[in-house]
Amino acid sequence: MINLPLLKIGNHSPKYPIIQGGMGVKVSGSKLAGSVALHGGVGTIASVGLACDHPDYKGWNYFDVNEIAVAESVKKARESAPDGIVAVNCMVALTDYERQVRSAAEAGVDIIVSGAGLPVKLPEYTRDFADVALVPIVSSVRAADLIIRKWSRQYGRLPDAIVVETPLYAGGHVGATRMENVTDMAFSLERVVPDLVKYLEETVKADIPVIAAGGIWDRPDMERAFELGARGVQMGTRFACTEEGDADIRFKKAYIDARPEDVVVIMSPVGIPGRALLNPFVRKYISGEVESKPCIAACLSHCSYLRDRSTFCIAQALVDAYKGDWENGLFFAGSNVAKCSKIERVGDIFDELVGG
Ligand SMILES: Cc1cc2nc3c(=O)[nH]c(=O)nc-3n(C[C@H](O)[C@H](O)[C@H](O)COP(=O)(O)O)c2cc1C
Repeated sequence: MINLPLLKIGNHSPKYPIIQGGMGVKVSGSKLAGSVALHGGVGTIASVGLACDHPDYKGWNYFDVNEIAVAESVKKARESAPDGIVAVNCMVALTDYERQVRSAAEAGVDIIVSGAGLPVKLPEYTRDFADVALVPIVSSVRAADLIIRKWSRQYGRLPDAIVVETPLYAGGHVGATRMENVTDMAFSLERVVPDLVKYLEETVKADIPVIAAGGIWDRPDMERAFELGARGVQMGTRFACTEEGDADIRFKKAYIDARPEDVVVIMSPVGIPGRALLNPFVRKYISGEVESKPCIAACLSHCSYLRDRSTFCIAQALVDAYKGDWENGLFFAGSNVAKCSKIERVGDIFDELVGG
């Protein structure tokens, strides 16, 4: 067993170099994030759609309630883990991206992780919060280079860490922009992590930790990522299927029942591929028969459902999945989902990953 690297993200040093990835809608809320933070990892709240089951949500005030719910979730996670490290994952593709970022920063979150687009304006939205570490998610060195050039020119700052998420295995929106990239080995962790580490050391000449995401399940997977030069790992699917996971128990049961052949990649209404379970809803979508629920609130800056009624309202479908509706939900999942055989406890996962 190799030693675990020390991970420092801005001013924040988690006990273990393990980040629980943000998973929306509400698959990783304050409960899961608080528990991961308590056990020594970075617990991440997904900011998307938190209004969906908030008592103040009346149907017309989605964005206002989202903003309030982001702050409340940070505070709740912090209460569960006063000394832990709490992050919020904000997706660039969201209409209320800026409001969610500002709300998280004002609520005192430690780290903002941001992908599903290039977070080029993230430093501007967090300018007054020097202690908030900023972590973009990329799937290529090219994307990291674009962000770094833009941030250093415009804001004189660099990312505090960079997550490399491989489209080969990751759950949810996979980072690749085109379907053919999803299986392209040029986007594997084996290719991108060492290249990015080298680029940061030799070109940027900065000590920016790289965090590997996508397909990481156990200690050997972690060690492979560390051998590539990563100083942390981000894990989604395994943490989604825990007692502390915020989704309905039927969401977790769907994970447990999933076989490798039940995992598919579809083109999402955002216009990028997403990995999900092949349930009745996805089956209908693939065969061109899906009937969408109405748009919740124009929550995406580019949405093919809003544009021409092709595809479906992804917010509604993700909320249905969070509530455990197998027929109508969109159950995002990484390809490791077939390894879920029971609902685990966060503490047991940490014992297994870092014990000894
Ligand atoms: C149910 C689900 C929802 C996700 N939602 C988001 C999200 O809102 N924002 C994001 O950046 N990544 C999202 N992801 C990606 C995870 O944060 C993480 O990077 C990824 O799942 C890592 O791969 P793994 O599942 O193989 O561990 C999601 C993943 C899953 C499984």
